Amino acid sequence: MLIRTLRLRDYRNYYRKFVEFDPHLNIIIGKNGSGKTNILESIVVVSNTKSYRTNEDSDLIRNGADFATINLVSDDFEYKVVINKKNKSLYINNNLVKRTSSFIGKINAILFKPSDLELFTQSPSERRKLLDIELSKISNSYIQSLLNYNSLLKDKNRLLKELELDEVLLDVINESMAPLIRIIVKEREDFFDTINEYISPIYEMISGKEANIVITYKKCSEIGDVKEELLKAKERDIYYHYTTYGPHHDDYRFTIDGHDINAYASQGQKRMILIAFKFALMRYVQRQTSRTPIVLLDDILSELDKENQERLLNIIPSDTQVIITNTDINDIDIKKPYKLITLKEELNV
Ligand SMILES: Nc1ncnc2c1ncn2[C@@H]1O[C@H](COP(=O)(O)OP(=O)(O)OP(=O)(O)O)[C@@H](O)[C@H]1O
Ligand SMILES: [Mg+2]
Repeated sequence: MLIRTLRLRDYRNYYRKFVEFDPHLNIIIGKNGSGKTNILESIVVVSNTKSYRTNEDSDLIRNGADFATINLVSDDFEYKVVINKKNKSLYINNNLVKRTSSFIGKINAILFKPSDLELFTQSPSERRKLLDIELSKISNSYIQSLLNYNSLLKDKNRLLKELELDEVLLDVINESMAPLIRIIVKEREDFFDTINEYISPIYEMISGKEANIVITYKKCSEIGDVKEELLKAKERDIYYHYTTYGPHHDDYRFTIDGHDINAYASQGQKRMILIAFKFALMRYVQRQTSRTPIVLLDDILSELDKENQERLLNIIPSDTQVIITNTDINDIDIKKPYKLITLKEELNV
């Protein structure tokens, strides 16, 4: 998958902006506030149909304008997102796409942003969110199972709060939940198995040091035990008035050479582990969909020393399109061709 061009109209700080991308390595440089992250964000909006920086689509419209347009031409289609103050419309090759799910993930972009480092210290629910977003983009069975499970979970929690509990209904809900839990856990297991295959070698390439990075999936139970666990949890659920067992409590933890990342790794190491995680994610998507996602790296270089920066830039796989932002590239020795996109604040507005 490749992005050939991006055209922004009244998007964030841009009045009109046209960018042509190199199929391999692109480096966007510009001062703080010049609009580097806004460019990556607009690509994520095409990928996910929403921004990761705001829940209000209207924030994406340039101050004073009525609507914003993102027009992205890939190697196969032309994607357009038109954002109005109250709603947004999605188009593929100028045909209106009514169902958001038919648009999400068509452009699969994997973003690294500085705040991703919070992944290690965040709550399990935030960590699950990232997992769900990534799996939902590539697996229809996952997104469907998750939506159905979450809706049953709501029903079940409501039921458990009732004074006179309808046990028959509770059994019916548990019965319907079981196959969905198996699908969710199975897909999460496969996901972590694949990521674990890739993450250490990628980390070693970036850091130049041997290390064993492992992500441990803390799952609600083994797939074969789901029915039994649901039954075991029944009395407990009734006692506590909420659902105590299920994949909505799942989590995952990172370790380096057997040590917990938070307690052991340095800032730079954490950053490299996350970068390795994102590249491993890219390999996972590639394996599942036979398409290579686009990798967006926002401000990735700032906390790495010169050698790690250079190693990172030089190990980017040749089959991958990468867009990196940084304030400048003055001291970095990049031993491969790349396209430099320089943003000048005054030209954008
Ligand atoms: N809706 C909007 N209308 C006009 N300007 C906006 C809007 N939303 C954000 N901006 C402006 O966009 C500018 C660029 O933001 P962006 O985050 O892309 O900068 P950046 O180049 O990534 O900077 P940094 O190097 O600090 O990360 C900011 O100065 C912000 O004020
Ligand atoms: Mg930025």
